[in-house]
Parts: sequence; structure tokens; C-alpha cells
Amino acid sequence: MMIELKTQSDMDRIHENGIIIRTLFDELESWMEPGMSTWDVNQFCENYITQRGAFPSCKGFEGYPAGTCISINEQVIHGIPHKDKIIKLGDIVSIDIVVDKKGNYFADSTRTFVMGDIPEKTALLVNTTRECLDLGIRAAEKPGARMNDISSAVFEHANAQHFGVVRDFCGHGVGFGIHEDPNVPNFVSPYASNMKLREGMVLAIEPMINMGTHKIKVLRDGWTVLTADRKPSAHFEHTIGITKNGLEILTI
Ligand code: MF3
Ligand code: CO
Repeated sequence: MMIELKTQSDMDRIHENGIIIRTLFDELESWMEPGMSTWDVNQFCENYITQRGAFPSCKGFEGYPAGTCISINEQVIHGIPHKDKIIKLGDIVSIDIVVDKKGNYFADSTRTFVMGDIPEKTALLVNTTRECLDLGIRAAEKPGARMNDISSAVFEHANAQHFGVVRDFCGHGVGFGIHEDPNVPNFVSPYASNMKLREGMVLAIEPMINMGTHKIKVLRDGWTVLTADRKPSAHFEHTIGITKNGLEILTI
């Protein structure tokens, strides 16, 4: 394992890219509407990012074909934007975006959007997942925090509602690349290193929480991850930096 630590000035540059994602998400809250395709939404996002002199880093990453991942309802992550995939009233839509400038200073964030009225249990899923992210961040903030503190904070909160916590995908180090060491699991594994968090680490914390089983399947397109039982899934993500003055959220 090779953890690349970041300086405060590295983190400031990651934060600039993180702010592009956050302001884009805020725009999407009012711009995105039922009837649009995920392709339309992807185009809006790519334009927003490139107009600000930045790059939607997912594009071309390991051959991924678009600048964003847009995953609806039973899709957990890595939904590929498509002209035929139409957003409907009552859907939950998770949009996962990474932004860099000139191949560096990657920020990674995800928000799940709610399209109008959704079933009460789905609203609970979305709110619980958002809270899992907040609790994971708060756990990382405590002096002397270790990786397991993040993992167990996320897991326990979702598990208390009997929601499934995805294990096959994790949070991760980020900054000089999209995916760096270490892994940031959303459950406590006996095999995890449980390392101490330390100054200079930049981590993407990203609970992926399913209404039913934690088990997932990958579609034949090689990317789209969906729940094994086809029940809905929610996803929130922030990139955080551990500095000498404490924790900074770099995608706010
Ligand atoms: N934020 C996504 C992740 O952590 C980035 C995926 S890159 C893509 O998995 F190629 F899948 F889009
Ligand atoms: Co990520």
C-alpha cells in the first residue's frame, strides 16, 4: 500500500475542483426534471465543468464512456448516461462526479437527488445514507481516529434501519488520481488495516446503502452496478482532507 500524502496547497487545489462539483449539484437541484434523459443531464454536467476550465475525470477512466455516473433507483453506482434512460417522477437519481484540472487535484463527490414525491421508505433510505456520510465524516474528525471508526459509524447507522451496506465497493484515497490507497470500507472487515488517519490524507468517503440486500450484480455493460434484489439504493460522497488544524470537507 502506498499512501500519497497531500500538502495544504494540494488540498486547496483539490478543494477548488470540489467547489465546482458542489455548485453544479446545487444547480442540478432546480435544473434537473422528470422527462430528461441521463444523457441530457450528463451533457449539462460536462459543459458546466469544462466551462470552468476543468475536466470531468470519469471520462476515459479505465475506458468509462461519460463524464458522470448517473444511477437511478436499483442502480447502485456507475450507471452510464444514455439517451433512452429517462428520469421519472418518484425516482432517486445518484450523480457521481470527479473533477480534475490538467490531470491532477481530483475531487470526488456524489449526491442522490429525489424527483418529486417518493415512497416514505425510499425517503428514509436517502436520508439515512446522507446521515451515514455525515457520521463517517464526524468519526474521521475525532483526534486519533482510525479507519474502522469511519467504517463502523457508517455501517451501524444503516444497519440500525436494516438497510444493506454495499461491501464490494469502497471509498478510497483520491487527489493525485481518481482511486488511490487506502480503501475506505463502509463495514468493518477483519482484513482491513484499521490504520490511523493522519495529516495529509485525502479520502473519498462514500456510503452506498441498499434498501434490501447488500448484494450487488454488475450488468453486462461491465459498469452498471445494481442491487441483487432490484430494490433501491442511495449514495452520497464527499472528499475530505486531514489537515493539522483538523478535517476539511473539500467538496463543499
Ligand atoms: N467516483 C467514482 C468511484 O469512486 C468514479 C468512478 S470512475 C468511472 O467509483 F469511470 F467509473 F466513472
Ligand atoms: Co469515489
